[in-house]
Amino acid sequence: MNRLERQHLKNVSQMDMQKNEEDIREGPPASSQASAWHLVRRPRRLRQSAAHRALVRETHLSASDFIAPLFVEDGAAAASPIAAMPGQYRYSVDGLVEEAAALTRLGIPGVALFPAIRPDLKDTEASHALREDGLYPRAIRALKKAHPDLIVATDVALDPYSSDGHDGVVLGGRIDNDRTLDVLAAMAVVQARAGADFVAPSDMMDGRVSAIRYALDKAGFTDVGILSYTAKYASAFYGPFRDALSSAPRPRAGVPADKKTYQMDPANRAEALVEAELDVAEGADILMVKPGLPYLDVVSALKARFPAIPLAVYNVSGEYAMVKAAVAAGYLDERAVVLETLLSMKRAGADIILTYHAKDAAIWLAEDAERG
Ligand code: PBG
Repeated sequence: MNRLERQHLKNVSQMDMQKNEEDIREGPPASSQASAWHLVRRPRRLRQSAAHRALVRETHLSASDFIAPLFVEDGAAAASPIAAMPGQYRYSVDGLVEEAAALTRLGIPGVALFPAIRPDLKDTEASHALREDGLYPRAIRALKKAHPDLIVATDVALDPYSSDGHDGVVLGGRIDNDRTLDVLAAMAVVQARAGADFVAPSDMMDGRVSAIRYALDKAGFTDVGILSYTAKYASAFYGPFRDALSSAPRPRAGVPADKKTYQMDPANRAEALVEAELDVAEGADILMVKPGLPYLDVVSALKARFPAIPLAVYNVSGEYAMVKAAVAAGYLDERAVVLETLLSMKRAGADIILTYHAKDAAIWLAEDAERG
């Protein structure tokens, strides 16, 4: 700093002090120009009012971004609550149809359906997954009959039907990739026949997208899409979901204790690009990253690599449970935290969000729109 600059700063700070004394005596001046620094760039200009902020907002959240995951079971109760997911239920088929009506009215375009299968119907081959008269195809048919315009995404993986609690067939203490592909391809066709709009392989076997695409096309379901769980991590955030479906790996000799030989290592990001390249080449219509909030760097990486392919993110059960617990304890404002979380997923690059908050968020967004 030269002498002139030092003098200038001294003058300015003296002016400020004098001005402050005047402020105290006379209240704020009509204009603060007298003390203004000449700053060419002032990012705060664009934040000064709600209208300014709306004008330059980069990311928008809408009910049409959401897919609501829903659980169905064969039960007497229309809806039985899920302990670790307050506000979520296992619905009977009738209850499911009713809930879907509410979601549709709110402008939510789709649901991702998961079945809670009776324990006595589970076996090591997940054979119940192929029954056309099973709970799942019945639920899909009922949903599509009542709500033909609702997008129904169905789950392709063995775990809800597997007595071992794995997404694939367990053989000799290992998950047999290619034998699992046979089952996955066949169950995708059963689901398509029941009316699924998208089949969503959540199993992470190698080659499942091409196996499913081939089987669907051969059966004439060329318009049924594939929403692929492209980068699904071996995450601890799935706990509440596994409780809801009693689908966790069984603690038994000969059954792997976790899913780490097929789900991705949480330490890896570049590997998600390999999975994405394969999914795109094999015919996936929509890519997905799961879980959401702890993996937004992966969302961003996939969007950068495949900007033209729709990208979904799954805001999973454990993320939901954390928010609900903190809200119940009075630590967080649910509405603000949920909307901020969902917005951050879109900002990272997701086009579609699977979230248990879908219904609440759609209601809040509608309220905001009404208020203007
Ligand atoms: C398994 C599956 C899982 C979820 C959906 N399908 C988790 C798992 O690997 O057990 C998790 C969804 C959630 O936690 O919300 N095919």
